[in-house]
Amino acid sequence: MTSEHKHPTNPVVSQSRVDETPDGRIPVGKTIPDEQPMLSVQNLKKIYHTDAGDMEAIRNVTFDLPKGQLACLVGPSGSGKTTLLKCIAGLMEPTAGEVTLHGQQVTGPPKSMAVVFQEYGRSLFPWLRVAENVELPLKNQGMDKSKRHHLVEEALDAVGLSHVPKSYPWQLSGGMQQRVAIARAVAYQPEVLLMDEPFAAVDAQTRADLEDLVRGVWQKLGVSILFVTHDIDESVYLGERVIILSSSPTIVQEDVLVDLPDERDQLETRSSQRFSELRHHVYEQIQLAKKGFRPEDAVAHS
Ligand SMILES: Nc1ncnc2c1ncn2[C@@H]1O[C@H](COP(=O)(O)OP(=O)(O)O)[C@@H](O)[C@H]1O
Ligand SMILES: [Mg+2]
Repeated sequence: MTSEHKHPTNPVVSQSRVDETPDGRIPVGKTIPDEQPMLSVQNLKKIYHTDAGDMEAIRNVTFDLPKGQLACLVGPSGSGKTTLLKCIAGLMEPTAGEVTLHGQQVTGPPKSMAVVFQEYGRSLFPWLRVAENVELPLKNQGMDKSKRHHLVEEALDAVGLSHVPKSYPWQLSGGMQQRVAIARAVAYQPEVLLMDEPFAAVDAQTRADLEDLVRGVWQKLGVSILFVTHDIDESVYLGERVIILSSSPTIVQEDVLVDLPDERDQLETRSSQRFSELRHHVYEQIQLAKKGFRPEDAVAHS
């Protein structure tokens, strides 16, 4: 068994039991075994009621996110990823089913969650300087000044922006603005960090840097992350797990364990055989999803 086939060893993540095949390889597409759930999504359904009629964006989605896990959520465009994240964040009420955090039903934005959206431009206050943007949620919490400043400094340092605390967001590049949004979420010290395609609007090089930044922050802070992306390579590179959504009306198509080593490297990891196998598998599943294949159909026809 090469190091490529090792299970991640992040100390904050309880180890999943992984069944290996007789040749010592871990099967592709292994469903994650149950662990103690911290965040739980149960039979979530969302129907939008519009003038044009009802639109069932999410039919029935169920999954758990254990403490300290970095899970990616992928699915075709329009498969309800943003809708799902908004329901999890307590920003939108599901039509049926529920989201629970430590067993408590989420009915509004929980204090221990932070969200980073794709539109970083709109999420930062243009009249506040970088450090002030990062500090604002802490101020709103009533945290004392010295603690606030310490956390802001640490967060800006973590995202490589300690040299521009006094700049305004509009004086920074897109990638730097997204770093500010990430710093703000990090300084807030959330238990759960939800990210909705946060790198979709930045260039490829910046994107790679930000991916490594997210993994670094995750390893350092032990925060649980649910990372939404439509980029298959990104989902495999970043995640310990990839939850694949079907086309709309959405269900979970497959829940894949990413058994890549914990230390990831843009060149090494992406050129490894296991990365390529996992990528291939997720790609195939997404293609099936786009063609309208649903696991429930497979069951119904068997
Ligand atoms: N506010 C809304 N009202 C009506 N339909 C919506 C609304 N938001 C999203 N939808 C529809 O729900 C489906 C899922 O959208 P969304 O969650 O944005 O998907 P994704 O993030 O995966 O691209 C799409 O068909 C979209 O048009
Ligand atoms: Mg979306």
